[in-house]
Amino acid sequence: MTDFDPDRAAADLLHHADRDHASGRPLGPPIVPASLYVLPGEPAGPYQYGRWTNPTWDATEHALATLEGAPVVSFPSGMAAIASVLCSLVRSGQRVLLPSDGYYTTRLLADQYLRPNGVIVEECPTVAMAEVDLTGFDLVFVETPSNPTLQLCDLSALAERATEAGAVTVADNTTMTPLGQRPLDHGIDLIVSSDTKAVNGHSDVLFGHVAGRNPELLERVKQWRTVSGAIPGHFESWLVHRGLETLELRFNRMCDSAEVIAGRLVGHRAIRSVNHPGLAFHPQHALARRQMYRHGLLVGIEFADAAVANTFAEQTRLVTPATSFGGTHTIADRRARWGDQVPEGYVRLSVGCEPTEPLWAAINQTLDAL
Ligand SMILES: Cc1ncc(COP(=O)(O)O)c(C=O)c1O
Repeated sequence: MTDFDPDRAAADLLHHADRDHASGRPLGPPIVPASLYVLPGEPAGPYQYGRWTNPTWDATEHALATLEGAPVVSFPSGMAAIASVLCSLVRSGQRVLLPSDGYYTTRLLADQYLRPNGVIVEECPTVAMAEVDLTGFDLVFVETPSNPTLQLCDLSALAERATEAGAVTVADNTTMTPLGQRPLDHGIDLIVSSDTKAVNGHSDVLFGHVAGRNPELLERVKQWRTVSGAIPGHFESWLVHRGLETLELRFNRMCDSAEVIAGRLVGHRAIRSVNHPGLAFHPQHALARRQMYRHGLLVGIEFADAAVANTFAEQTRLVTPATSFGGTHTIADRRARWGDQVPEGYVRLSVGCEPTEPLWAAINQTLDAL
């Protein structure tokens, strides 16, 4: 780990734009809905055309950069961020390694757009990623903890071996946010994030970003955004900026509650198994303690079958059946309904910002009735 201090970063984030003490300056960033900017003479200056740059994107990217410790390029969704990396950095004949148990749409993107265009895509489970022979790979993409199986990969070991092999490394950090884990500090080249989840955190925006300390790689990603037109909206950027201001409060509450709830679920007669990196018996708990600042807000719960899992998701007070995670509301999602390779009764619980004890009481009430 580096000397990164999530608390200090969260404090700096709140004041990232504070140096200007001009009287009457609004505290928050302005929403600038510009498709064009006044531009006499030869093109010059930071704002020339709306697909290239926007002051509201800049404000949000600057705020995110405070947490990432690296420059940021923002996107209209997490998948747009992932597509920007995979499409701008990889070409026909090159080899890419993807996690076989991570977010399924990343694999779908590879199936529908990389493989048909001549990119060689191979897959491997997240737990094996750091040990697999990386010779000949051009890009290695990892997601840790993976969604929905909450498996971990040793980021430092992976970065070291991939760099030796000459591959660019990319980590999807959606499940952790930069306050929970900073893959760039472990030597990973680029992170991608779906800010639709905890970063925005209010279930009202799709958004994403890429961050990295290698200017050449990040410039290629930015160029992809400019040319493909996969640009974020100004209003969505502003909402993410607002959401970010409470990320530290929300993330810590969610992680605290997830840890308490995961511990109390263990051994309940209605549950087959509980999966959370903070549990001492999680197979990679030691690694979690080494490379993560928190253990995350997701808890995997395996019930006997789909029917029991659905009853839990649909009938627990203070729990909403829905897909996605990281928002203020606690959400339960039976992942096999989306085709994920998990048991039929596996529920991904995204622990929200409800105070812990009422939330636990509601969950426990349903469990006791199952
Ligand atoms: C780990 C992970 N990465 C990326 C994405 C894609 O994000 P978005 O829905 O914002 O495109 C998701 C969405 O669930 C995700 O869970």
